[in-house]
Amino acid sequence: MPTSAKALSYQSGFGNEFATEALAGSLPIAQNSPQKVAHGLYAEQLTGTAFTAPRAQNKRSWLYRIRPAAMHGAFKAVSSGMLQSGPFDAAAVTPNQLRWNPMPIPAATTPTDFIAGLFTVAGNGSADSQSGIAIHIYAANRSMQDSYFYNADGEMLIVPQQGKLLLRTEMGLLEVAPGEIAVLPRGVRFAVDLLEELARGYVCENYGAAFSLPELGPIGANGLANPRDFQAPVAAYEDCEGAFTLLTKFGGRLWSADIGHSPLDVVAWHGNYAPYKYNLAHFNTINSVSFDHADPSIFTVLTSPSDTPGTANVDFVIFPPRWMVAEHTFRPPWFHRNLMSEYMGLIQGVYDAKAEGFLPGGGSLHNCMSGHGPDAATFEKASNVQLAPHKIDHTLAFMFESRYVIRPTEAAMASPQLQQDYLQCWQGLKKNFSIEKN
Ligand SMILES: [Fe+2]
Repeated sequence: MPTSAKALSYQSGFGNEFATEALAGSLPIAQNSPQKVAHGLYAEQLTGTAFTAPRAQNKRSWLYRIRPAAMHGAFKAVSSGMLQSGPFDAAAVTPNQLRWNPMPIPAATTPTDFIAGLFTVAGNGSADSQSGIAIHIYAANRSMQDSYFYNADGEMLIVPQQGKLLLRTEMGLLEVAPGEIAVLPRGVRFAVDLLEELARGYVCENYGAAFSLPELGPIGANGLANPRDFQAPVAAYEDCEGAFTLLTKFGGRLWSADIGHSPLDVVAWHGNYAPYKYNLAHFNTINSVSFDHADPSIFTVLTSPSDTPGTANVDFVIFPPRWMVAEHTFRPPWFHRNLMSEYMGLIQGVYDAKAEGFLPGGGSLHNCMSGHGPDAATFEKASNVQLAPHKIDHTLAFMFESRYVIRPTEAAMASPQLQQDYLQCWQGLKKNFSIEKN
């Protein structure tokens, strides 16, 4: 496929005013839409916020492309497969704690690309209400072939768990491996190539405000995810014609249109609305160096704020390798019940609150006020272990935490991956109470 010769490289920063061109002289100077754009390109603006959003939140980019985005055939509704969208009211939501084994990756006899391989586990809100999320698992065994996609319903936070991906986007190329994340803003067109034989991971489809960096408060100017570690692509384009398909998720379902050229034909762009990636190993983890542990909000990488300050539409939180040094403290996460609802996934290793049953590629759901915490084996061990500085290593768990109850889909509740015995992990907790003990 003819593409610009630009090698894979990135621009650093979070939400910066980027400017990049794959062909010298393509970017207009000091204006956005000149009467004629260099090299015969079309100018097109892509906005990620209302025109009049406050300057600090305002997102838009100018794209200089071979053909405008409007050039394609009519969209027709097609099967959405296992992909679902809000409102998630088909199944009665349960207060039970839930956990799933990893979704299987389709066999080679069933060619499945990233879009076809999306399975919706749960969600809340809806694209129409511009609040809430959908949580999907993707499991794929081949690259998208002659097809492209954009999501009008929400931005997509991709959390690979197995297999490196190449995201070919309108604004350039992003390679994303397990341990890294990528965010594809609402509307940006892209295709997903597998750089390894199989791929699986998680997607948080965010219907609400775009992900941003959390405030740092008393932490100060540095810490958690630092802006310079986020990477946006440089311009790279495909100049090719053919019988291609443009898929979109719009109004909660998939649509398909014919398109006679690659829509990834942006030769230059500038602006602050762009896809980006981030290596979770660059997260500057902060926690107690005396006793007890801070709330897990200290591990927030990205947040989608709601209209209520401090009460997120969704937070993306990670539990990375880190030192545990708290004295006279039960170090794993304690038992808790929260207003916020929590979906957890595991990228690799073992999560420190569970001895077994929570597997890489699997997931758990602890909804609003449902009690959870360490299993019986973990409680026994952590209550009696000799405390010394200890590094939790070779593990990476994460959480999508939302102010809204997370409603599992009927398909997720009926799937054989749902563990019927999850509640058993707390049944072995002994009654230790004794009025003689102190
Ligand atoms: Fe929790």
